[in-house]
Amino acid sequence: MQSFTYLSPTEVIFGKDTQNQAAEYVRKYGGTRALLVYGGGSVVRSGLLGQVRHVLDESGIACEEFGGAMPNPTLEHAREGVRLALGFQADFILGIGGGSAIDTAKAIAIGAANPETDLWDFWCRKETAGSALPTGAILTIPAAGSETSNSSVLTDTATGSKRGLSTDLNRPKFAIMNPELTYTLPLYQVACGVTDIMMHTLDRYFNPVDNELTDAIAEALLRTVIAKGRIAIKDSHDYDAMSNLMWAGSLSHNGLTGLGGPGDFAVHQLGHELSAMFGTAHGASLSTVWDSWALAVCPEKPSRFARYARNVWGITGTDENAMAMAGIQATREYFKELGMPVNFGENQDIGIQDDKVLRELAYRCSFQRTRTIGNFKVLDEENIYEIYQKANR
Ligand code: NZQ
Ligand code: ZN
Repeated sequence: MQSFTYLSPTEVIFGKDTQNQAAEYVRKYGGTRALLVYGGGSVVRSGLLGQVRHVLDESGIACEEFGGAMPNPTLEHAREGVRLALGFQADFILGIGGGSAIDTAKAIAIGAANPETDLWDFWCRKETAGSALPTGAILTIPAAGSETSNSSVLTDTATGSKRGLSTDLNRPKFAIMNPELTYTLPLYQVACGVTDIMMHTLDRYFNPVDNELTDAIAEALLRTVIAKGRIAIKDSHDYDAMSNLMWAGSLSHNGLTGLGGPGDFAVHQLGHELSAMFGTAHGASLSTVWDSWALAVCPEKPSRFARYARNVWGITGTDENAMAMAGIQATREYFKELGMPVNFGENQDIGIQDDKVLRELAYRCSFQRTRTIGNFKVLDEENIYEIYQKANR
């Protein structure tokens, strides 16, 4: 087991009607003037924003609202939020919605605490942020795990770059998680969320270091998400299924499922370029490339893929390579069952692309030839290109 630090400080308030405790927790973490950050309007239509606003107003917390965070939220929008937070003198940023709203809230919290530095300099690692306003999250979709993660992902539409910033400053002080708030989700978004939760675990599980406890936790989480995902994509009003998915979403991305290993995260990096170029939903960007990545890296350590097949999919056998292939096949079939695309051709936002586009994607994914991605197998620009090529069917 490699050495690690593990910090997961977010206070989780889980269960029915927990959104009514929002004021108590904003106050607990020092908020007296809260900026409420939300997305394209689902929380307005569901009445959640009004409810939260009501409890905050009642308890004397001053509020300003900032909507419009779109899936794959933009730098430009976050900058606008920073200006608003500064003008309002916000001392607390509350994200209400999914990863896009919560990531925008986190970005505003860093930007408002460091007004002299442009946000993007932090996301491009030119500058290191030393402070942030406190944030909280009221989650409406089990997916990105942003409610407890240390990460915030923004897209600069001017350059077509999607970048994540990982820092403990991004850990929300609290996360309110009421599974009933997910009942209004379109089934496609449920499927995207299930895919992303799986992928946060898979992108850690496939790494060069074996760790029995961490691996067993990851496998249990995957089995649960696969089973509950099957129920949720038919009925997003199933409280038990949505509860399990919601909690799995947090656990899959707060660090727990990768402790003691270096992680991999190549699939996330491959997917981010697809979202940046084609605007495809995050979950769909990952399923689009996963099996092409898996087939490319499996020869590094087929025993790992065989273990995955056995412990997650219940596949038996003695031939390691055959089991590994069966595990990859089972994952691909499951994504299809969810209605997720498993290649470029099946992804409505992408479609079959020219070789020039594949080269450009690989160039961008290697950050203009300045980095490799992955640890299970380290991938350079050429390896990345070959994976996109394999997925281009
Ligand atoms: O914008 P609104 O109107 O709220 O609608 C959203 C959006 O259209 C809708 N939605 C969410 N909850 C709903 C609902 N519709 C009806 N009822 C509800 N209860 O679902 C759509 C997707 O929402 P979004 O917030 O984009 O989803 P998700 O949570 O998947 O977040 C995706 C973003 O998070 C980033 C992704 O890259 C992407 O930008 N990620 C953030 C991470 C992190 N901070 O740790 C890690 C992830 O790997 C990921 O990269
Ligand atoms: Zn993700």
